[in-house]
Amino acid sequence: MTMTAVGTPGLLTEHDDGPVRLSHDPRRLLILADEAGLTGRGGAGFPTYRKLAAVAAGVERPVVIGNGAEGEPASGKDRALLTRAPHLVLDGLVLAAEAVGAEKVYLYVPADIAPALRERAATRAPRVTVVEAPDTFISGEESAVISRIEGRAALPRDKRRLVVESGVRGAPTLVQNVETLAHLALLARYGPSWFRSRGTPQEPGTFLATLSGAVRAPGVYEAPYGVPLGELVNLAGGPSADLQAVLVGGYHGAWLPARAEVPVSRAGLRQYGASPGAGVVVALPASACGLVESARIAGYLARQTAGQCGPCVNGLPRLADTLIQLARRDRDTRLPGEVERLLRLVAGRGACHHPDGTVRFVRSSMATFAPEVRMHLAGYCTAEGASDV
Ligand SMILES: Cc1cc2nc3c(=O)[nH]c(=O)nc-3n(C[C@H](O)[C@H](O)[C@H](O)COP(=O)(O)O)c2cc1C
Ligand code: SF4
Repeated sequence: MTMTAVGTPGLLTEHDDGPVRLSHDPRRLLILADEAGLTGRGGAGFPTYRKLAAVAAGVERPVVIGNGAEGEPASGKDRALLTRAPHLVLDGLVLAAEAVGAEKVYLYVPADIAPALRERAATRAPRVTVVEAPDTFISGEESAVISRIEGRAALPRDKRRLVVESGVRGAPTLVQNVETLAHLALLARYGPSWFRSRGTPQEPGTFLATLSGAVRAPGVYEAPYGVPLGELVNLAGGPSADLQAVLVGGYHGAWLPARAEVPVSRAGLRQYGASPGAGVVVALPASACGLVESARIAGYLARQTAGQCGPCVNGLPRLADTLIQLARRDRDTRLPGEVERLLRLVAGRGACHHPDGTVRFVRSSMATFAPEVRMHLAGYCTAEGASDV
């Protein structure tokens, strides 16, 4: 994969000049995060300051976890960051731990990069324990992360209590995506005005985007929030074919038309029911069938259920099977209605966001590829490889 950053200092280009220290009060990090308007880069975009403040306010000693699981198959940015600039992630982790007064600090990463990070983390105080994340879609969901850190399987758990109040062994716990931590490290070095010099006033800063599909140079690129979709695709060498749609936000994200001017920000993507999420952008060429691709992804998501909640365990495979029937051009006009019925059955259910994320993805597939749905029901498809599902 190609890795490039726009402008310097950058997440993938920043030199390792030794650990960053905040000269006086470690709690200053909270003020910096607030002034910068930093939000989480793990998908949900939650304000980082609010999480830091909630954890710091706990009575018990908090725990801090850097989440680098990156279970999303179309994402490569956390791996790129942990490989290219691990010092920034470790700096952010240590700064966050000092800011909230944590003693226990964990870095949760895929098994193959854990040894190198363990070696690197050994030089840091407070001690950072590197824990291996299993290679599943949901292993990075925050309650699954906590279960794994506690020595159990990486499965989501009941979230009646927020992890900022009660996470690892009941202690207030800060789970922060590794990119968010790297931003914290840069923020400590360069300050909120620098941070706000990129992005939009409402969504300041940059994000790491993973571009794949029909682009000339698939890879990880840093761009400011609000960057027009066309410019983002151009960072990856431009489209390698005519594009019909773009999947933004990953497998829990949404399809939108490949319009160059669409700003990649929460505000810009809202009208499409999408959000930048963790920065995944998949370009679909005009020659491919969006329904076939959507059915393939829905099938993957159905297989990733953690097997704990009925609507998820039973509903997602039925949803995926119905989409597969549509993609295979079964001429059954009841299929779209059945998709809708299953979407309603699954939405808002289950102990984690996996069913809702899947519902969002399937809804956007049915809306974006409505013309293909009509064609498939009539028994034909103009795309190449339409029988590959
Ligand atoms: C199914 C699912 C999978 C997730 N996987 C990841 C992941 O691999 N890495 C990650 O940082 N966050 C992941 N998240 C989001 C986390 O639950 C959590 O919001 C995030 O780690 C918080 O960090 P942030 O505020 O810095 O974004 C996932 C969420 C869901 C629902
Ligand atoms: S909703 Fe699905 S993925 Fe989430 S905990 Fe329940 S079974 Fe597992």
